[in-house]
Amino acid sequence: MPEIQIRKFDLKDRSEVRRISCETSFLEEDRGLFIEDDEILSDALTLYYTDYEPESCFVAVNRDRVVGYVIGTKDANRMEKVFFKQILLKFIKKAFCKHLFIKVKTWRLFFYISMSALKGEFNAPHFSAQYPAMLHINVDKDYRGCQIGKSLIGHYMNYLKEQGISGVYFGTISNEAKAFFSKLGFKLLYESKRSYLRYQTGKILPFYILGKSLGQAV
Ligand SMILES: CC(C)(COP(=O)(O)OP(=O)(O)OC[C@H]1O[C@@H](n2cnc3c(N)ncnc32)[C@H](O)[C@@H]1OP(=O)(O)O)[C@@H](O)C(=O)NCCC(=O)NCCS
Repeated sequence: MPEIQIRKFDLKDRSEVRRISCETSFLEEDRGLFIEDDEILSDALTLYYTDYEPESCFVAVNRDRVVGYVIGTKDANRMEKVFFKQILLKFIKKAFCKHLFIKVKTWRLFFYISMSALKGEFNAPHFSAQYPAMLHINVDKDYRGCQIGKSLIGHYMNYLKEQGISGVYFGTISNEAKAFFSKLGFKLLYESKRSYLRYQTGKILPFYILGKSLGQAV
């Protein structure tokens, strides 16, 4: 078993968190099939958390190497506002400067996400009144099954409890994540389908929202 320490995120961990976020994106299919630029991808997956709410992030470290993280927000409504007011425009500008909008892949992904949106696949209910916080977790492939995910979630939940937060929820397209979080006492709040990766993976994916009220031990 590797010797793992869970600690608060530090700015020096940022690039490793971004690396893991890219490697675990798109259900670990070849991400180059969907988007070529790791900087844009990791911005989309992690930038709010690491840059605007780093106090709500934790990393798992093995001999100074980051091997997993849980990044989150205490207030999903605030995150949404910051994203639309402060991040989105910069994000689009960066994608433009990196010539992403002249790439067929970008438009293909955008087209299929838009088709999913038109079919109502993103119309999920809001759970932030009962579950204000949100999370996003990933563990390096080589370090899974060593209780790192459970330990990260334990630290994050204790942090939220100390902050007086009443609950946490998140969405996922991963059956493995659903099984992992069910084991940790998360309840399935909502279930639907997402078809936007079908053009590359051939699969219509499930989409789950899971949540947990705080005050219960992990
Ligand atoms: C899901 C993930 C975070 C789990 O982390 P992990 O460190 O491998 O899990 P742990 O070793 O802490 O497992 C804790 C418990 O959950 C169980 N578990 C872990 N993964 C599981 C799975 N896929 N199915 C069923 N149970 C699972 C373990 O058996 C263990 O049970 P135990 O306490 O009875 O021994 C990790 O596999 C991962 O990053 N996966 C890829 C990306 C992903 O799905 N991220 C989540 C997106 S929200």
